[in-house]
Amino acid sequence: MANLFRKLESLAKRKGKTVILPESYDPRVREAVKLILKKNLAKVLLISTGKVINLPENKDLDIIDIGFAKQFASEYYRIRKKKNPAYSPFDAEREISDPLVFSCMLLKNGFADSVVAGSVYPTSTVIRNAIQIIGLKKSNKTVSSFFLFTFPKGHNFTHRVLAYADCGVLPTPTASQLSDIAIQTSLNYRKLTGTKSRTAFLSFSTKSSAEHESLHKVIEAYKMTVRKMPGHIYDGELQFDTAFVPHVAARKNPDGKIKGDANVFIFPDLNSGNIAYKVTERIGGGIATGPIVQGLVKPVMDLSRGCSAEDIVNMVTISCLI
Ligand SMILES: CC(C)(COP(=O)(O)OP(=O)(O)OC[C@H]1O[C@@H](n2cnc3c(N)ncnc32)[C@H](O)[C@@H]1OP(=O)(O)O)[C@@H](O)C(=O)NCCC(=O)NCCS
Repeated sequence: MANLFRKLESLAKRKGKTVILPESYDPRVREAVKLILKKNLAKVLLISTGKVINLPENKDLDIIDIGFAKQFASEYYRIRKKKNPAYSPFDAEREISDPLVFSCMLLKNGFADSVVAGSVYPTSTVIRNAIQIIGLKKSNKTVSSFFLFTFPKGHNFTHRVLAYADCGVLPTPTASQLSDIAIQTSLNYRKLTGTKSRTAFLSFSTKSSAEHESLHKVIEAYKMTVRKMPGHIYDGELQFDTAFVPHVAARKNPDGKIKGDANVFIFPDLNSGNIAYKVTERIGGGIATGPIVQGLVKPVMDLSRGCSAEDIVNMVTISCLI
């Protein structure tokens, strides 16, 4: 569905959201800001760290000086002190002047609707700040991420949109975390594509075709998810071909709820999820958007450090909708 992002952009425009981009010193971010403003996608808030930002004035662009971060120092200190008794007001004074920390505090305090960062900051820094400052949605205990795949014109899967999770955050999820990942990804898939999710819990076994202790958590996560979200379509444990290829599903899992038509794939850990998303991108020719971070009270999106200005625009679009 090559035009998915055109549809998402027109939905995002109607929301009138404000997005913070903390890495205004990155030329790709400034390029993305020009595109966002040209498309009227969202209002943009940038953090100035003293360097010239060099963007034309625009009614939808605000630039706030990092010097204003100090007013959040005591609130930030209280947040960090809860988890780390050795944390001092001096530490908070120093750290609040980091554009990402300041941006998360602005988001927490209602100055914007989302933060999109990670063209320079590593994933772990973006996620750790988001967990510590923004916190988790009450409905789940897990912050995770997914990639959305679309396919170019002429590709066998041009009309498909797929979601892979978790490919970016949790190295070794437990059964209950895997279940949270599946529920969040399925709900977000529905929200972004308007299509019902059909979610497969992947492994190297299809319905007990193999026996190994590593499979237990996948089976437990599947059962847990069915109990928590009975109205949705889930199946597991499944091999990828059983989940994705109808004639293999007919042979290996004839009574399954997924008939080789899964659109959401839940990987047992970060190794498999991350490898699979790169294989789909590099060999399979899929267009990956993500990691789309989920499970937080307010959206903080992580960019890949190899991202382009267009990738940033896509993540800003998603941050307005999720
Ligand atoms: C997310 C991440 C930063 C957390 O690491 P960490 O800060 O060392 O986390 P810890 O295990 O020390 O946990 C700290 C707290 O955060 C919580 N936490 C950590 N990861 C969490 C998650 N994904 N969801 C919810 N809570 C989480 C822990 O439960 C713990 O809470 P507590 O203080 O109440 O006990 C880490 O998993 C990470 O780096 N992930 C990214 C992996 C990566 O590099 N990806 C790049 C491309 S694949």
